[in-house]
Amino acid sequence: MSNSTGPVAPRLLIEIDRGGELTLHEQIEGSLRAQIQAGLLAAGTRLPSTRGLAAELRISRGVVTEAYGQLAAEGYLSISRGAPVRVAATVRRQSPRPPARSLTDTFRYDMRPSLPDLAAFPAHQWLRSVRAALTLARIDDLAYPDPRGRPELREALADYLGRVRGAAAEPEHTVITTGFMQAFSLLCRALASHGITSVAIEDPGAHVHRLIIERSGLTPVPIPVDEEGIVVSVLADCDAAAVVLSPAHQFPTGAVLSPRRRAQLIQWAESEECLIIEDDWDGELRHDAAAVGALQGLAPERVLYIGSASLRLAPALRIGWMLAPSSLAWPLSESKAIEDGGAEVIGQLALTDFIRRGELDRHLRRMRLAYSRKRRRLRGALARHMPSARLISAGSGIFELLQLPAGVQETDLIAAAASRGLGCEGLQLHRFATDGPQCVLIGCGALPEPAIDHAIRLLSEASRQVTR
Ligand SMILES: Cc1ncc(COP(=O)(O)O)c(C=O)c1O
Repeated sequence: MSNSTGPVAPRLLIEIDRGGELTLHEQIEGSLRAQIQAGLLAAGTRLPSTRGLAAELRISRGVVTEAYGQLAAEGYLSISRGAPVRVAATVRRQSPRPPARSLTDTFRYDMRPSLPDLAAFPAHQWLRSVRAALTLARIDDLAYPDPRGRPELREALADYLGRVRGAAAEPEHTVITTGFMQAFSLLCRALASHGITSVAIEDPGAHVHRLIIERSGLTPVPIPVDEEGIVVSVLADCDAAAVVLSPAHQFPTGAVLSPRRRAQLIQWAESEECLIIEDDWDGELRHDAAAVGALQGLAPERVLYIGSASLRLAPALRIGWMLAPSSLAWPLSESKAIEDGGAEVIGQLALTDFIRRGELDRHLRRMRLAYSRKRRRLRGALARHMPSARLISAGSGIFELLQLPAGVQETDLIAAAASRGLGCEGLQLHRFATDGPQCVLIGCGALPEPAIDHAIRLLSEASRQVTR
């Protein structure tokens, strides 16, 4: 009997499908790779010669040579001149391992407040822009990019943001980032390196603001928010040198910063030489009233503006942009260069094409109408199925802030809703105080319109289950 590592090559079990989708060499590669990974062909096992295997399978020798060459390049086979082909000595049988897990939650009815309508992503138009980007890209475009972002995207954004948000955008002071989160994170670290120790935030305000401030070694200072937005008189009494806020649409109350507060805020920043950080997370999605312009346009040297593709197109694109005051533009560009060498280029070129062809405007116009309809449905469903809950969010947007009926705790409701496949967020996540009314944020961005009623019925069922 011959030993598998001995002089005689074993017969291989390789099935060839001549009408299959894979080429013959891909089929041989796939079969051998799988047998080696499963330990059926152990390290050192001698394989048939290319001529022998070709004759056995009745295919040309070149096909076997191609397959062996590819597997040698992948490290599965060792081929040396004048010696038989063997399974490489270094291969190990791959023991079964648990599949890689994702850290992100998924829900059948995802009503978390920051999710846009992913099904409405204009994939066809985006693909056209990606194709145009790759077709028009020159060889040099594949080298390390300008860490601030592609000049043509910075120009397209400057035109776009000037037109739709009233921003005073300078392409030279614009930095393309991996979403809002990276922009704000780079900024907080830059502030810390300038000796700043605290940043004021809205309370309630986006959890992500507080998280990034704390992770950058800074102290968040909570400032209350009322129906006119952040209370500037309280801000003026604290010693923070910067404030982050979402003036066009406060997250999560929905308040719009009133003209009076806008003027007070800019006056505070100018007289105290402080920085305003504008999180314009959903600026163009206002659907129930006239657009509210960006604060940055009023005081570009005092306001650092951050926007991103997440709510406007899809979070998975991970593209954001910041318009920096001139004194911060260079330090932030340098930080971006050190952080990751600049944003991914094909996506930037695609977004440039997408904006230039008017697709972003078209998509947002469509989404404003769609979100307006969905929000009406959401309100109707809440009135029908949860009449004792109170809607306390103002105005526009893709979610409601819902004050829960007496006896319902937000954490209990969120857990009971999750067990029914429904995802939502509690207000507690976004505020400092641990007491106060029990509220949840219910988004309608990602749900198809017809599913909203059923989802709210599930929420009301969950609410009944946890009522004490
Ligand atoms: C308040 C707020 N700011 C900013 C963002 C966008 O963050 P990013 O661009 O990193 O996805 C979101 C996203 O949901 C948000 O809710």
